[in-house]
Amino acid sequence: MSQAPDTQPVHLRLEDEVLVVCIDHPPVNALSQAVRAGLLKAVERAESDCAVRAVLLVGVGRAFIAGADIREFGKPPQPPSLPEVLHRMELLDKPVIAAIQGPALGGGLEVAMAAHHRVALAGARLGLPEVHLGLLPGAGGTQRAPRLMGAQAAAELMLSGQQLSARAALEAGLVDRLVEGEDPTAAGLACARELLASGARPRRTRDLPIPDAATAPAQLDQLAADTASKARGLFSPARIIECVRAALELPFEEGLRRERELFVECLNSPQREALVHAFFAERETAKIPEARAASPRPLARLAVIGGGTMGAGIAVAALDAGLAVTMIERDQESIARGQANVEKVYDALIAKGRLTAEAKAATLARFTPDTSYDAVADVDLVIEAVFEDLDIKKAVFRELDRVCRRGCVLATNTSYLDIDAIAAETRRPQDVIGLHFFSPAHIMRLLEIVVAARTAPDVVATAFELARRLKKVPVRAGVCDGFIGNRILAVYREAANHMLEDGASPYEIDAAVRAFGYPMGPFQVSDLAGGDIGWATRKRQAATRDPKARYVEIADRIAERGWFGQKSGRGWYRYPQGARIGQEDPEVLAIADAERAKKGITPRRFTQDEILRRYMAAMVNEGARVLEEGIALRPLDIDATFLFGYGFPRWRGGPMKWADMQGLDRVLADIREFAKEDPQFWRPAPLLERLVAEGRDFESLNRPA
Ligand code: 3HC
Ligand code: NAI
Repeated sequence: MSQAPDTQPVHLRLEDEVLVVCIDHPPVNALSQAVRAGLLKAVERAESDCAVRAVLLVGVGRAFIAGADIREFGKPPQPPSLPEVLHRMELLDKPVIAAIQGPALGGGLEVAMAAHHRVALAGARLGLPEVHLGLLPGAGGTQRAPRLMGAQAAAELMLSGQQLSARAALEAGLVDRLVEGEDPTAAGLACARELLASGARPRRTRDLPIPDAATAPAQLDQLAADTASKARGLFSPARIIECVRAALELPFEEGLRRERELFVECLNSPQREALVHAFFAERETAKIPEARAASPRPLARLAVIGGGTMGAGIAVAALDAGLAVTMIERDQESIARGQANVEKVYDALIAKGRLTAEAKAATLARFTPDTSYDAVADVDLVIEAVFEDLDIKKAVFRELDRVCRRGCVLATNTSYLDIDAIAAETRRPQDVIGLHFFSPAHIMRLLEIVVAARTAPDVVATAFELARRLKKVPVRAGVCDGFIGNRILAVYREAANHMLEDGASPYEIDAAVRAFGYPMGPFQVSDLAGGDIGWATRKRQAATRDPKARYVEIADRIAERGWFGQKSGRGWYRYPQGARIGQEDPEVLAIADAERAKKGITPRRFTQDEILRRYMAAMVNEGARVLEEGIALRPLDIDATFLFGYGFPRWRGGPMKWADMQGLDRVLADIREFAKEDPQFWRPAPLLERLVAEGRDFESLNRPA
């Protein structure tokens, strides 16, 4: 993204009497300092050159302008500022036209709104997504959008961060006309010539009245109330509303000043830092060594083995991406159920009016259910999603090895099992890889790509290509019990169990975790997933468990009663009459008390702060081990895993970013403190100790791999 000093990201040329300003700053024409300086020069030329009678702004390539250069946030500001450039541009006494193709987002839309006329091509996407970065539009957007589209609609656009199509933007009043064709310059020039021929004067957005000025204040009150409950913990939404109020109540210039103050507050907030980290982490995870070293294999036909929860979800994800999918099940009854599981997803969309029966039929024309493995002989990639049982999986892979063509990628969706052992059942371990989807697989964005000891680089590249097609966030992981996510989860979940046994109630722990920003606490999650699953795992692990390690039995006592959570009406919480939100259960508290008494533990109180410090320290410490062992490539891969697969609040950036922002020395000091009670569980990770000793943070390890 860095611009060599002698390149010109903004080119000017005079076409007849129109100054064509081309913003040419790949990949997305972000408004870096050089672009802002180029735009200012263009304005100065238009001010001083009497040969110029109109100005046309166009973006070169796939975007108009994708907004401010996000990489500049957090660094000292470099003049000229965008508000200053746009102020000068809006005051030009010659018509300024923006011709928009592709994204015009954030500062990009603010440029367009400061122009006097806007034309949009069919592929244009307009929005003010700053809220996703912990910001608000800071170059006049909060003052100009209400004048073009009404204050309520502008507030909703900014609070949602939604992108509008060209047609929706036309209907909203954000653009003046929709034009045919692919060439923004031709469309913009036609508009400019028409305006010049009609003698049109600049029509400045700042001078327009706000169309819904009378009704908007009451609607903003409502939006503010909704935002307070919906945008729990977020910093910028309330400030967006404040800016829109300023647009309604103050003269334009004063509104701009208020916007600036609030923008700077957001810019300096920890949420902005965490959200920008999340933005880049989401894109960086795909940059892995194998993607550079090898090309993906062909990828058109896919098979899933098993049509249960995961197999069906994976099939839907692949069908939605346009792939052909064969599903294999054990027998006729199971395949009928697998097919029904797939159809159920589309039927639900039809019921909501989001899909037509014809579109469902067209999609399912690419779906082939079968009970014979011979049906997968020619596919490009197979994903096994049968029961979590090593022997069954080994048998499936022997069968796949027998039938699949050479070069076919053989993937397993196992959550915990040893992929090297599975690969060893085949004569082609180089073709075997883990593709760990999350439930529901057609919705959850995380895909852990687990690279086994002998996996070939082009198989890894194929898996990343599949993720790109499925619009997943791919994270490269190594083989270990639970890979990145479930391995770390097991440890902080255990920390929660220890707190429970020491005196915290499951409800206090859940409340603390929700207060941190998670949608649910760990005991609520267990009730949702089904307590029987964890119970079965614990029974399986009993034989190999370290007898010296602390083991909390309270969950077993709950499961033994058949209290498996929502599906059985009772778990850690009660769910009377199928309720989705659980009620606290005094009997659960009594069970916990009895278990403590049995072990001679005197319960103590935990503050919310202590619960979180323990929960997070366990997460970060295990994250450091996962890094050190090379299971995760970079800290940002762990952050992406938790952001996209485990409900970690995006505005906290992920566990490793959170730890950096706390200060690693503080996290390590906590671990050492907790280790006084249980030195076996709270062993500081050597990597964490080393980073603290060297005064470094996790970010320093986020180098491109
Ligand atoms: N600044 C810097 N880099 C940006 C960027 C931006 N605004 N937008 C995208 N990029 C980079 C990406 O990091 C990526 O870099 P990489 O190739 O090195 O990984 C590259 O551009 C391509 O981006 P995507 O992979 O996301 O490409 P897509 O085609 O999938 O999406 C997009 C393009 C829709 C423009 C998407 O990148 C996007 O949503 N960008 C962010 C838009 C945004 O949030 N703008 C508001 C910024 S804040 C602002 O404007 C403040 C103002 O009010 C003052
Ligand atoms: P499930 O029990 O819903 O489905 C498994 C399906 O496999 C059943 O329909 C069964 O009939 C079929 N099957 C069993 N043996 C077979 C064989 N030999 N040939 C063909 N089909 C066979 O299980 P679920 O939840 O879909 O899990 C599948 C795998 O995905 C497991 O390895 C699990 O650990 C993993 N996983 C599960 C997640 C979840 O949240 N449920 C999340 C991520 C991974």
